[in-house]
Amino acid sequence: MEKVTVNASRTYDILLGKGILDNAGELAAKVKKSGKAAVITDDNVDKFYGERVMKSLSEAGFSPKKFVFEHGEASKCHATLLKIYDFLAENGYTRSDFVVALGGGVVGDTAGYAAATFMRGIDFVQIPTTVVSQADSSVGGKTAVDIAGGKNLVGAFHQPCLVVCDTETLNTLTPEFFSDGMAEVVKHGMIKSRELFDILSTQNIKDNLVDIMKRNVSIKGKVVENDEREKGERMLLNFGHTLGHAIEKYYNFTGLTHGCAVAVGMSVFTHIAERRNLTEKGTADKLDALLVKCGLPITDPALSDMDKLYELSLRDKKHLSSGMNIVICSEIGKSEVVKMSVEEYRDFLKG
Ligand code: GLY
Repeated sequence: MEKVTVNASRTYDILLGKGILDNAGELAAKVKKSGKAAVITDDNVDKFYGERVMKSLSEAGFSPKKFVFEHGEASKCHATLLKIYDFLAENGYTRSDFVVALGGGVVGDTAGYAAATFMRGIDFVQIPTTVVSQADSSVGGKTAVDIAGGKNLVGAFHQPCLVVCDTETLNTLTPEFFSDGMAEVVKHGMIKSRELFDILSTQNIKDNLVDIMKRNVSIKGKVVENDEREKGERMLLNFGHTLGHAIEKYYNFTGLTHGCAVAVGMSVFTHIAERRNLTEKGTADKLDALLVKCGLPITDPALSDMDKLYELSLRDKKHLSSGMNIVICSEIGKSEVVKMSVEEYRDFLKG
């Protein structure tokens, strides 16, 4: 088993290995000496892993109870949250107990926000079961739900007390879903690690998941340690997302999935940055080759409507009144936040 420690406002371990889901109880017992566990998951994940996690937590003495909601982004809302609060209250959970978020990003964000707010905050353990949640969203304490006005608009920073990444859970993902999560993995290589980028480009990814995920959570953990509240360095994690979010919105979230949109966003910005001598020549082609290897797109019909994408970028919650923070990679593994006025950004999008 591998371990990465994050020293954020709270110090916690990310444990990685094959099959460690069955040890979730004993691993949790190292950080929670007592208390009851509330397992929050969705119906898809529950079918595969619910009972294994419940059994392990029972054997470790955590008397777990389980709350299952319907899978999908539509569940990441206040209605689900209220049901989770009721479940926790009706079953007598207190501040000495803890939530176990078992699943992908929707489960982690929703259960994490429930943990952040129930009784003004109780502990939670993340057991991410998707590529994107293992590589990215389970680390760093961002929790949130969506509202009509936008995704992730209501939330809190609440660090988990433990993250358990069983890379074998990635075997039950569809190839499309696996590929979609790989966009954030490629992003981490682009912004921080040529070594990770080279491993992804040259090795069989599915044969090296523990190593690859360990590198991802190390990168993410370091960024979070340096800038937990996203005032500076954490913005680098938005590479590809400014345009990616605009493309998702262009299709009203029914077209390209998040990872695919981010892949297109990373590719487009890197090509433009290369033409403007902000990025080392050849970088965009290497990025495109890796994205294609991962089963991700590098272009999309929405790009023919750049004016609309520009408008949609300005409505993003990460757009500040003072302008745009655009992430550019000067070379593979090196990135910076470039401040642009909205006029400069409009000009940048022209290529
Ligand atoms: N997924 C981006 C962040 O955690 O900041």
